[in-house]
Amino acid sequence: MALVLLVPGGGGQLGRELAGLDLEVHAPGSADLDLTNAGSVIEAVSTAADSARARGDSVVAVNAAAYTAVDKAETDRARAFAVNADGPRVLAAACSSRGVPLIHVSTDYVFPGDADRPYEVDDAPGPRSVYGLTKLAGEEAVLGSGARSWIVRTAWVYGAFGSNFVKTMARLEASRETLSVVDDQVGSPTWTGDLARALAALAARVVEGDAPASKVLHCTGTGSTTWAGFARAVFEELGADPSRVKSCGTADYPTTAARPAYSVLSDRAWLEAGLPAMRPWREALTAAFKAHPGGFSPA
Ligand SMILES: NC(=O)c1ccc[n+]([C@@H]2O[C@H](COP(=O)([O-])OP(=O)(O)OC[C@H]3O[C@@H](n4cnc5c(N)ncnc54)[C@H](OP(=O)(O)O)[C@@H]3O)[C@@H](O)[C@H]2O)c1
Repeated sequence: MALVLLVPGGGGQLGRELAGLDLEVHAPGSADLDLTNAGSVIEAVSTAADSARARGDSVVAVNAAAYTAVDKAETDRARAFAVNADGPRVLAAACSSRGVPLIHVSTDYVFPGDADRPYEVDDAPGPRSVYGLTKLAGEEAVLGSGARSWIVRTAWVYGAFGSNFVKTMARLEASRETLSVVDDQVGSPTWTGDLARALAALAARVVEGDAPASKVLHCTGTGSTTWAGFARAVFEELGADPSRVKSCGTADYPTTAARPAYSVLSDRAWLEAGLPAMRPWREALTAAFKAHPGGFSPA
C-alpha cells in the first residue's frame, strides 16, 4: 500500500517542493484545482480517492494553497477569506465525504506576536492582520469539518521555488553595498525542503494508523533569529560580508499589515507525537544552498 499525496497549491513554493518528493504526488496548480471553485475541489479529491482505492493505495491531501499576499489582504479581504477560509472548508468537506485525511498548512500569523516564549499549539490565537484572521478561520473550518485533519503551522518559509526573503536578500546583495533589515521581529526560518519531508512523514504516520493525537502541530526550523540575522546568514551563504546588513526597527520599515514581533512556534507537540525533529534553521539554510546551487541567486 503506497502513500499518495494530493497537493492543492502545487504551483507555490511549498507545493513545488512537495511535488518533488520521492513518492507519488499530484500537485495541481490553481488553474486545475481552484479552492474557490467547489466543483474543481470535489472532482480533484474524488479522482485522487478513486484512483488510490483502485490500486490499493492511500491518499492524503496536503493543502499548500493559500492567499499569501499579506499586505494586499488588508484591502482584498473578501478574496483572502474566500481562498484561506472558505476554500479549506470546501476542501475539508470533500475530504470528509471521500474518507481522505487532510493536512492543512497554516501560519505563525494566527498569533498576536507579543509572547516572550515559544507559542504552544494550544495558546490562544489573536491575529493582528487580515491574512492571520483568514488563516485562523481556515484552521477552524478544517477542524470543524468532520474530516480526519491536522493543522500544521509553520513560519518564515523559503525555498528555491517562488519568491521569498532569501531570494530578495540575494538580489539586494548583488545590487547594493549595504541594506537595512528589521532587527526587532523574531521568528524561525523554515526551508521548504525540510518542511515538505516533515509533512510527508506526518502523512505516512496518518496512513499507518499512528496519527498524532494533537490536531494542531507546529513545524519550523528550530531556533530563532531576526530578519536581520536571517539576512546576514544569507550573505554568509553567498560568501558576502554579513556586516553589510545594518539593523533597523519595525518602525523604520512600515508595512500595510502588522507583523508579529515574536512568532517562535514550540515544537513540543510535534516531538511528543514522535515526529522527526526539524534541524536548526541555520543548518537548514546551508543545506538549502547546497541542494540548489545558484537556486537563490538573482537571475
Ligand atoms: N511563505 C511563508 O513565509 C509562510 C509562512 C507561514 C505559513 N505559510 C503557509 O504555507 C503554505 C504554503 O505557502 P507558500 O509560501 O508555498 O505560498 P505561495 O508560494 O504563495 O503558494 C501558494 C499557492 O496557492 C495557490 N493559490 C492561491 N489561490 C488559490 C486558489 N483559489 N485555489 C488553489 N490554489 C490557490 C497559488 O497559486 P497562484 O499563484 O496560481 O494563485 C500558489 O501557487 C500556505 O498555507 C501559507 O499560508 C507560508
